[in-house]
Amino acid sequence: MNSEEFRRHGHDVIDWIADYLDNAERYPVMSRSKPGEIKALIPDSAPEIGEPMDTILEDFRRDILPGVTHWNHPRFFAYFPANNSAPSILGEMLSAGLGVNSMLWQTSPAATELEEKVMDWLGEMIGLPDGFHGVIQDTASTATMGALVCAREKATAFAVNAAGPAGLAGAGPLRIYASREAHSSVLKGAKIAGFGAENVVLVGIDENRAMDPADLEAKITTDLADGLIPCCVVATVGTTGCTAIDPLAAIGPVAKKHGLWFHVDAALAGSAAILPEMRWILDGVEQADSLVFNPHKWLLTNFDCSAYFVRDPEHLERTMSIHPEYLKTGRDREVNNYMDWGIPLGRRFRALKLWFVLRSYGAVRLREIIAGHIAFAREFAGWIDSAPDWERLAPVPVNTVCFRWKPAGMDEATLNTANAKLVDRVNADGTIYLTHTRLDDVFTIRLAVGQRATEREHVVTAWETLQKIAGEI
Ligand SMILES: Cc1ncc(COP(=O)(O)O)c(C=O)c1O
Repeated sequence: MNSEEFRRHGHDVIDWIADYLDNAERYPVMSRSKPGEIKALIPDSAPEIGEPMDTILEDFRRDILPGVTHWNHPRFFAYFPANNSAPSILGEMLSAGLGVNSMLWQTSPAATELEEKVMDWLGEMIGLPDGFHGVIQDTASTATMGALVCAREKATAFAVNAAGPAGLAGAGPLRIYASREAHSSVLKGAKIAGFGAENVVLVGIDENRAMDPADLEAKITTDLADGLIPCCVVATVGTTGCTAIDPLAAIGPVAKKHGLWFHVDAALAGSAAILPEMRWILDGVEQADSLVFNPHKWLLTNFDCSAYFVRDPEHLERTMSIHPEYLKTGRDREVNNYMDWGIPLGRRFRALKLWFVLRSYGAVRLREIIAGHIAFAREFAGWIDSAPDWERLAPVPVNTVCFRWKPAGMDEATLNTANAKLVDRVNADGTIYLTHTRLDDVFTIRLAVGQRATEREHVVTAWETLQKIAGEI
């Protein structure tokens, strides 16, 4: 493709994206594609001879688009938001255009230094105290696994890094504590980082499904009596199921007393802390060793962009860094080489899209958008509370409402099947997209408000659609 063709197709693609962002509502939110349907449309081998871009774009529209679930649809209420925005897309395009690998400061000083700055901005926006240092990771799962590896090396004075499990010298195993509502990335990280799934201790929860610090203390005490080694506690600010907020201020002292690494997973809810009235969700964060939250979830920055903050970057670097000769530069003592702050060597220039978002919207507008989402979720919760055939199943501290349809006279088992059927029917209808969880044994519908374009009218439509389809069942 020559630059003239690139220019022409580039304009076409931008036009298409601009229309898409304005009119995502014209699509059913959840793709109606059946398993294998898209694959069947794609040839078994790559073409030998290059094809015209017009044909490729046409195939994109005809064959690929029907298999897309529209996360940026204003009536997407499933899972958790993964939003984007025009400024973010522009930043992403420039990053792709530059094709930079920001593994070392020297491989693009601007990428490293802009990352330092925008992470400082973000830390300030969510009210982190001084002394945290930020780095962008691909996902919260990667960041949490990094935290677990740092915890492991702190507990073993770098012996596991050096000798593998033999570094424990017969002591152990190392134990990780997280509430039973914590995200599956904790278990996954524990498996991959060599702790073993059996060494993730599920701490009890209170009536709001937040971690019970007294049970944390009790579980650690039992482990110590059994000769096990408490290593790390992961607190969740905004659990995936129902956005419960673990009490950091009470967990911190327990972690400190027993010398545990204290990691905070605020993947979704961290963005809400840009609102002064929501800062309370991070009360006690000053005691943490590390924290992650995802601008790619709820801060209008397209996937992937996960903000990871650490107290002690030297410990992180010592845990992660390996310096083969070809990666050494004359500047290594003066600068951050972010390859030493995480798992991959190669790193994209992700700071650019975050910078575009923060500058283009400004903190005031971002606060308005997030405050709007929270208000819509609370209003929806109010409708549920006042409707006789519906029941709210958890508090709504942030943006997600957990509820179920509860017509009179149905037993628990029938309620579970009826609600599962309701979710299937609602999603097949295509007007909105919702997903479920189970809170204890109760089939629970979740409505997560957080897409860039979601307005009150879309939440009203969600409520009307649920009532209409429930009425038809
Ligand atoms: C609390 C929490 N932690 C971690 C994750 C995983 O996020 P990521 O996809 O960035 O790894 C999620 C996403 O669902 C989450 O809700």
